[in-house]
Amino acid sequence: MRPKANMNFVAGVLALSCAVESSVAAGIAEWKSRSVYQTMTDRFARTDGSTVSSCNTTAGLYCGGTWKGTIDKLDYIQGMGFDAVMISPIVENVEGRVSYGEAYHGYWPTDIYSLNSHFGTKQDLLDLSDAVHSRGMYLMMDTVVNNMAYITNGSNPATNIDYSSFTPFNNSDYFHPYCKITDWNNYTNAQLCQTGDKIVPLPDLFTEHEDVQSMLQDWAHDMVKTYSIDGLRIDAAKHVSPGFLHNFDNSMGEFMTGEVLDQSVNTICTYQRKYIESVPNYPVYYAMLQAFTNGNISTLAEKIIEMKAACPDVTGLVSFSENHDVERIASFNDDIALAKNILAFTILFDGVPMIYQGQEQHLKGSGTPLNRQALWLSGYDTDSVLYKLIAKLNTIRKHAQVIDDNYVNIPSRAVFEGGSELALVKGTEGLQVLSVLSNQGSAGKPYKLSLPYSFNAGTEVTEIFTCKKYTSNNQGEIQLDMDAGEPRVFFPTKYMTGSGLCGYSAANVTLAGLKTGKAYGTSQGNQARQISSLAVSLPMVLLVSLSIGNLF
Ligand SMILES: *[C@@H]1O[C@H](CO)[C@@H](O)[C@H](O)[C@H]1NC(C)=O
Ligand SMILES: *[C@@H]1O[C@H](CO)[C@@H](O)[C@H](O)[C@H]1NC(C)=O
Ligand SMILES: *[C@@H]1O[C@H](CO)[C@@H](O)[C@H](O)[C@H]1NC(C)=O
Ligand SMILES: *[C@@H]1O[C@H](CO)[C@@H](O)[C@H](O)[C@H]1NC(C)=O
Ligand SMILES: *[C@@H]1O[C@H](CO)[C@@H](O)[C@H](O)[C@H]1NC(C)=O
Ligand SMILES: *[C@@H]1O[C@H](CO)[C@@H](O)[C@H](O)[C@H]1NC(C)=O
Repeated sequence: MRPKANMNFVAGVLALSCAVESSVAAGIAEWKSRSVYQTMTDRFARTDGSTVSSCNTTAGLYCGGTWKGTIDKLDYIQGMGFDAVMISPIVENVEGRVSYGEAYHGYWPTDIYSLNSHFGTKQDLLDLSDAVHSRGMYLMMDTVVNNMAYITNGSNPATNIDYSSFTPFNNSDYFHPYCKITDWNNYTNAQLCQTGDKIVPLPDLFTEHEDVQSMLQDWAHDMVKTYSIDGLRIDAAKHVSPGFLHNFDNSMGEFMTGEVLDQSVNTICTYQRKYIESVPNYPVYYAMLQAFTNGNISTLAEKIIEMKAACPDVTGLVSFSENHDVERIASFNDDIALAKNILAFTILFDGVPMIYQGQEQHLKGSGTPLNRQALWLSGYDTDSVLYKLIAKLNTIRKHAQVIDDNYVNIPSRAVFEGGSELALVKGTEGLQVLSVLSNQGSAGKPYKLSLPYSFNAGTEVTEIFTCKKYTSNNQGEIQLDMDAGEPRVFFPTKYMTGSGLCGYSAANVTLAGLKTGKAYGTSQGNQARQISSLAVSLPMVLLVSLSIGNLF
């Protein structure tokens, strides 16, 4: 599973890091089964639980979100079916205000061994970690290893940075000589020069250097151990030395996904092959935008095939449609049906889904900083259309894994491409999830869509949003009802029990149990009989979960 070794690193560093490798860490296999909710601590939840406290997104100042606030909103996150949380960087950042704001986002570190006190105390962060783990969820930490930050406020960064202000990199020798990136597509330039500007330069760590590498590794091990962190996102991974990235990934022994903001299939797959086991799937992200906000479905269909052919393992990438760096979907087009299709695609496509706070409330901000609205102003509405949709999508994704051990490891394949539809199947033949996505938007009219072979002839499938059942004909075709540009998601009816969807119970099931009809001690027969026998024989607890299932 590990990417192949790239040999331009110091052997001693590797030997050292193997010795301290954590033994309890969650690796890529564990993370593939998870679904991640990304928070920006300052904008997610306040300690006072306020839903009215103002936050001027344009001004870019701290708005008061805390780790304690996050703890109080874990029900909100878990209510959508997420079983992992990624929090924004935790370390101490530079204090002070410039024309475009403060370090509320966490990407301006000055002391990686202290915490950002705006977000709370060490105990608060420990409590957050405990609270996340006590729910069986994973904690991911967003991690800045490319740079430190300094406010020069316009004076020349080449001569006005006080390096002794940084911990532990308190000397200019730990950094590349000052230069500003002039060509973001030239990786050498982008890795040796600074991502910052003349107001807040971001001194660029000399990550090729053995000492810098071991200091960052020691620090990361310390954080992971202290706060029981299960996985890391590496911010600006494109801008650090690839050799460092490779060593860092190997040394941590737990899942790591690195931000390489590039739409080139070749670049992204090279990173996965040589440097880091996972990166966000930017090529598919851009193609997804083409498909759903620019009417070009075939770009997406092609990109999916291209990625599958070029990457070592597309199922280990991160699937996303919004994050704190890109425009929100609703800023391109606020049609709700498009938003639903995009979420269905993001969560049911290959890789670890990561949904950025606020997508569930259909927030509209365009690029940074407008995509960082205070979530509390939405009132944490658990009745919102997309909140409930995400809950169903995470539920079927989880259930598919119960029924099919290999679900997450099998890349999606397109079974149909229409002028406005794309149908994808994922999972083991016979147990697969079929998603039919549309870019018609909510103005789309009702029509019948004839899907070519996607299930064996005579298979009854349940559509999880409408709960309608369809049976494939002799050719395995399904004639399905499309309407208002809504996405459709199908699963074989005989394996719906245990899903908690469409009135099927949420009880524990196994594939073997469902196949033999022995689940719940019923001898045989179709699903309807199993369900009605449940209703008469099962205790109250299950009846309650049945009716919760119906709410969806
Ligand atoms: C928000 O901040 C911007 C930039 O500082 C400022 O121009 C604008 O007036 C502020 N808006 C409100 C409502 O205070
Ligand atoms: C930066 O300069 C602006 C005026 O240009 C000033 O308002 C601000 O306080 C300065 N910030 C710091 C941290 O010196
Ligand atoms: C940098 O930090 C180290 C370790 O704390 C210390 O020994 C050294 O004196 C510091 N150097 C400078 C230039 O402050
Ligand atoms: C890329 O950047 C490096 C370092 O800044 C520079 O030496 C090199 O000439 C650049 N390559 C191209 C093709 O521009
Ligand atoms: C869709 O994008 C592809 C390139 O990815 C292009 O070749 C094709 O012409 C586009 N189709 C439409 C309808 O714009
Ligand atoms: C399913 O099994 C797990 C582990 O045995 C248990 O914790 C959980 O409560 C069960 N869920 C239901 C709905 O029975």
